[in-house]
Amino acid sequence: MTPKARLNLFLGIVVVFLFFYIYDRSRPFNSVGNYSYINRELDILTDPFTCNNIPERKYLEQRGLYYVLFNFVVAQRNFGCSETITLTAPGDFQFLENLVPLIRVWQGAVSIGVYAPGNDFHMALASIAYLRNCEETLIKELVSFHLIFDVDHVPNSQNNTPLIDSYIDHYDCSIPPPWETIKQEDTYRRQNKLFYPLNVARNVAKSAARTYVLFPSDMELFPPRNFVGNFLQFAKENLKLFQENSKSVFVLPIFEIEEGQTIPENKTTLQEMLKNGKAIVFHKNICLECHKVIDGDKWIEAAETEGLNLFSVGKRQGAYQYWEPFFLSTQKEQFWDERFVWEGQRDKHVHVYAFCLMDYDFVVLDNAFLVHKPGIKKVKVQDEKYSDQVKKTKQIMKGIETELQNIYGYNKKCIL
Ligand SMILES: *[C@@H]1O[C@H](CO)[C@@H](O)[C@H](O)[C@H]1NC(C)=O
Ligand SMILES: *[C@@H]1O[C@H](CO)[C@@H](O)[C@H](O)[C@H]1NC(C)=O
Repeated sequence: MTPKARLNLFLGIVVVFLFFYIYDRSRPFNSVGNYSYINRELDILTDPFTCNNIPERKYLEQRGLYYVLFNFVVAQRNFGCSETITLTAPGDFQFLENLVPLIRVWQGAVSIGVYAPGNDFHMALASIAYLRNCEETLIKELVSFHLIFDVDHVPNSQNNTPLIDSYIDHYDCSIPPPWETIKQEDTYRRQNKLFYPLNVARNVAKSAARTYVLFPSDMELFPPRNFVGNFLQFAKENLKLFQENSKSVFVLPIFEIEEGQTIPENKTTLQEMLKNGKAIVFHKNICLECHKVIDGDKWIEAAETEGLNLFSVGKRQGAYQYWEPFFLSTQKEQFWDERFVWEGQRDKHVHVYAFCLMDYDFVVLDNAFLVHKPGIKKVKVQDEKYSDQVKKTKQIMKGIETELQNIYGYNKKCIL
């Protein structure tokens, strides 16, 4: 062979090898089924994110005055760090019915911190069994549940089964779901006048998530269709914003819709509903400033486009100093202050204040938004029903301002 022929042969082999290498890398991790939440694009790169090593096993942790049973019921599917986004949310068994419509649009991993003191624990386990066996199969596949109860309200074990082994993944689907069988005021939590530690539940859900990108949200908030895939594509195109030292979080404008309306699955439908008054900015009647996003009026006007893009960026300052947005973040971001309970309000306020002191950018995305479960709120029930706790919370807030300023530094533009 001439040297030239040898070179051609060599190049030919290299090309064939590369073809098979790229072909193999471009196949999804797992070729079972068609999952829109599997992120095929990022898979071609080496994994861009690294995750904390979070144990998958069931374990007990004590967290202040609460016990937490992590991974009490786990999703069947185990995702890689960059393969999907984990929606993390607090709740109790009476919120769990929202998971059915939520999982249908979300189609990604979900981690729920369920507050379940005393006998509410057994109601929660039955609710989970109902959802896994009688409802949408995606729940079994994608949702993990972590259970939380007060150290003073440890559930009784039943039939001599230790609590830690007490989950039975079976439900007679001809029986109505547990939340339909009991009135709110008859739950163990209400009977014992226990406060709902939603920041503990938020932190538990977050710490148990196994993906790098997280969406700390709520079971009553619905994103648009195809959000997870679109956001991961956005992340791939904007890796800088997600790195270890980056200070960005990703805001979804939030809206509420009238009772009886269908939740819009894309921006175009949302815009129509805003025009005819069927949808409004979230809590417009309670605190407009809390949920007005940067360039919000332009956001509402702008026509829907393909995928997801950056729409506006800014700080939680000036006209946005009272902003309490819902946003996506990563594993590295700040946890919630567990001194706050739902009854006292302000549970999210301190969290976003800390992000202001740390000088984070709030990135607003163009085609993504959240819609609250139908029904427009007029007043906050906490003000009337739990005025003592609201007062106590105001006291705690005063101390926290100084604490956080000592930790992160003073910035006069940040308002608590
Ligand atoms: C996956 O989707 C493709 C095209 O949408 C379809 O032809 C195929 O049968 C699906 N495979 C499975 C396993 O559902
Ligand atoms: C938006 O949703 C509506 C109703 O579900 C649907 O008819 C329409 O085709 C969707 N538009 C786009 C751009 O996806």
